[in-house]
This record gives sequence, C-alpha cells and structure tokens, in this order.
Amino acid sequence: MKSHYKDFFSLNGRTAVVTGAVGILGQGFCRGLAEFGAQVAVVDLDQDRCSKFAAELQQDYGVSAIGICCDVANPSSVGGMVAQVVSRFGAIHVLHNNAASKSSDLDAFFASTEEYSLAEWRKIMSVNVDGMFLVAQAVGKQMQKQGTGGSIIQTASIYGIVSSDKRIYEGSFYLGRQISNPAVYSTSKAAVVGLTRYLAANWGDSGIRVNALVPAGVESGQNDTFKSRYSARVPLGRMAKADEMVGALVYLASDASSYVTGHCLVVDGGLSAW
Ligand SMILES: NC(=O)c1ccc[n+]([C@@H]2O[C@H](COP(=O)([O-])OP(=O)(O)OC[C@H]3O[C@@H](n4cnc5c(N)ncnc54)[C@H](O)[C@@H]3O)[C@@H](O)[C@H]2O)c1
Repeated sequence: MKSHYKDFFSLNGRTAVVTGAVGILGQGFCRGLAEFGAQVAVVDLDQDRCSKFAAELQQDYGVSAIGICCDVANPSSVGGMVAQVVSRFGAIHVLHNNAASKSSDLDAFFASTEEYSLAEWRKIMSVNVDGMFLVAQAVGKQMQKQGTGGSIIQTASIYGIVSSDKRIYEGSFYLGRQISNPAVYSTSKAAVVGLTRYLAANWGDSGIRVNALVPAGVESGQNDTFKSRYSARVPLGRMAKADEMVGALVYLASDASSYVTGHCLVVDGGLSAW
C-alpha cells in the first residue's frame, strides 16, 4: 500500500501560538507553520507589528492568523492571550515558546560576570525562564482541558548546552557595540532544557509532547570578525541562516515527530560535536 508520509508534516486545522513571533527567527517560524497549514497566533510585545505580520500571513498562505500583544513575563497578560486565542480558534494544538529578552539596557546586559547586576539578571530571567514557564503552564492547562494532546516546542540555545568560547568575542561587534555572551543567557537557556524535560515527563500521559529547539548562532548583522571567529569553530564552517531553523520546528510541531518528546533538537552546524 502506498504510504502518505508527507501528510505527517501537515498542520492543516491546527492552531499554533508563537511567542517572540516578530523577531529575527520568529517570523520564519510563523511562516513555516502557516505554509504547512496552521492557523497562527502571532504573539509579541508590539500590537501593531503583530497585527501587521498576522495580516501578511493570511495574505501569503491563505490561513487565519491573529496578532496579540502579550508580555510573557506577566501572568495576567498570558492568561488574556490564551483566552483570546481560544475564543478566536476554539483550541490550541501547537505552542512555540520562543520569546527571549535582549534587554533594553545593553550596557547592563553585556556587563562582565564580575560586575553583573542582580536587577539585570532578574529582568532577563523573568522573560527567558518565568515567561517560558507561564506560557507553557497556561497553554498546557488549555490542552489538557481540550483533551486533544498537543505539541510544545521551546527555543533554547546551544549556549544552554555548551559554554560559549570567550575568545571569539575579541573585536566582535553586533547591535553597534562590542558583544559577549552573558552568564544569564546561558543559565536561562539551560533552564529551558530542564523545564522541557520536566514537562515532557509530566504531560506525556495527556498526549502533550514537549521538545526543545536548540539553535546556534544565526547570521543577523554581526561584523566580519565575529563571523569568521565563530565560523572557525563550526564543522560546517559558517553561521546558520534563520530559515535553517524552520524545518526542525515544523518536524517537532507536526505528527512527523509523534513519538518524540523530551528531546533537544540541536541545529548547530556541528558546533557541539567536538
Ligand atoms: N538568533 C540567534 O542567533 C539565536 C541563537 C540561539 C537561540 N536563539 C533563541 O531564539 C529565540 C528567538 O531569537 P531571535 O534571534 O529571533 O531574537 P529576537 O530578539 O529577534 O526576537 C525575540 C522576540 O521576543 C520578543 N520578546 C522579548 N521580551 C518579550 C516579552 N516579555 N513578552 C513577549 N515577547 C517578548 C521580542 O520583542 C522579540 O520580537 C530566542 O529564544 C533566542 O534566545 C537565537
């Protein structure tokens, strides 16, 4: 009998919520989910940008989409977002927990470990960890109420799995300034991996799968010094392109990964292989 493996990747009739949806990676994630048939809730901090991008998805892929302003670090904002998605689409089948904070104060964000302020640490943790938990909690509860099961994907980072190499940051500029990888980022992303495994183990009996998508460095305007120092550490010899993360997301969101849970899908060009 002829197989229908292509159908395993279909997201027709599913509703997906994506947080951090209008960021560098979020837009490609939303496009990927919409192209495979999902209705998408575009969730981020700016209502106008969310609404405009949702309209683009409707236009480009012929699916329904809604833009919702939500601060993932705020429990009542998260509750309101989930209620709005359910009232519009009836149910949630896929959550891509993807938002992370770049901070509004880059001097504080990129400060040395020795000088790092607890206030900045807590600010980043409140989005990257508290926010991830709050959205997973609210959507997981909704999926349990529906009795439909579901797929939750949480964006971690390669630097939650291995440390960054401080030597690659000599002479490296991004966002108009010298950069580094602060400890709070690595710590928050390691927490995402821990939360993912915990939820997978605890919600498996409700048919809810929970996996981490683990990207490594994506090219988005870093200077040539950074690109070449970083690329020298990568077996494939280059940084990732944003589009190269999308296949992994669609796999994890769809029935193509129906027996995969508690997994970290690392998309790093081999960076963690040696
Ligand atoms: N770009 C990379 O190289 C890379 C590498 C590894 C992991 N990641 C991870 O991938 C995810 C997406 O990263 P990106 O590069 O698109 O970053 P980005 O900064 O472009 O996007 C993050 C989005 O999250 C939103 N956000 C921030 N705080 C929020 C809050 N409190 N509530 C709701 N939304 C909030 C921002 O507005 C932004 O649109 C992040 O989790 C990031 O840590 C990125």
